[in-house]
Amino acid sequence: MEKTRLDKLVSNAFHISRKEAKDRIAGGKVSIDGVVRRDASLCFDTAARVTCEGIEGTYRSHVYIMMNKPEGVVSAATDKTATAALSLLPDDMKRHDLFIAGRLDKNTTGFLLVTNDGAFAHNILSPKKHVPKTYLATLARDLKESDVGMFAEGICLGEEHCKPARLEIVSERVARVTVVEGKFHQIKRMFHAVGNEVVALKREKIGALSLDETLLPGDARYITEEELKMIKQNLFDQDECS
Ligand code: URA
Repeated sequence: MEKTRLDKLVSNAFHISRKEAKDRIAGGKVSIDGVVRRDASLCFDTAARVTCEGIEGTYRSHVYIMMNKPEGVVSAATDKTATAALSLLPDDMKRHDLFIAGRLDKNTTGFLLVTNDGAFAHNILSPKKHVPKTYLATLARDLKESDVGMFAEGICLGEEHCKPARLEIVSERVARVTVVEGKFHQIKRMFHAVGNEVVALKREKIGALSLDETLLPGDARYITEEELKMIKQNLFDQDECS
């Protein structure tokens, strides 16, 4: 049996901040096993039936967070010289067991997935699972129609052969690219291989889940159950990137 403080339990079960949880508890809106509880510091079994304003919630020991990573921030828990992405999380989201599932370069922005679920992260990242990741790339030079075919065939990065990727030309120097793997600096190296250079890169989507555009750079929020399914529904083996 796992026990935790009521404010932590409510914050987790309803995806709200610890402060909001405390307010609702103090306001008499939270019940545990049918009994209204107003003391946020009391501990309860995480499997207890918890309701807030009449809605039942479920405590999860695994958490999934979407962050809008700003430029200049490193994908790490701590860093000696630069701001670390996990340090940007609000205090009530911070946990010692969180890590980043799929790091972004320091100058890449956008959808950073933070979790404490190792098996889930493995599935998201494994090239065998083909979870698509979509990036918006701004290029130094004009895109060529032939780039689309080159990406679809699978770009060679020296000894490494990339799986087929989808390249959509958005404008002369802006492209949307979808890859199903995460090689080191992959998008930048793929464009370099076709004679172009990435000048700005943003991850827009993981699986079928898009970055919440209401999140300002550096903001983070919990991923809902429905959204989690949108990532997981892509966890099947397939041969192509479509
Ligand atoms: N590809 C890159 O080149 N950089 C990233 O940050 C992510 C994908």
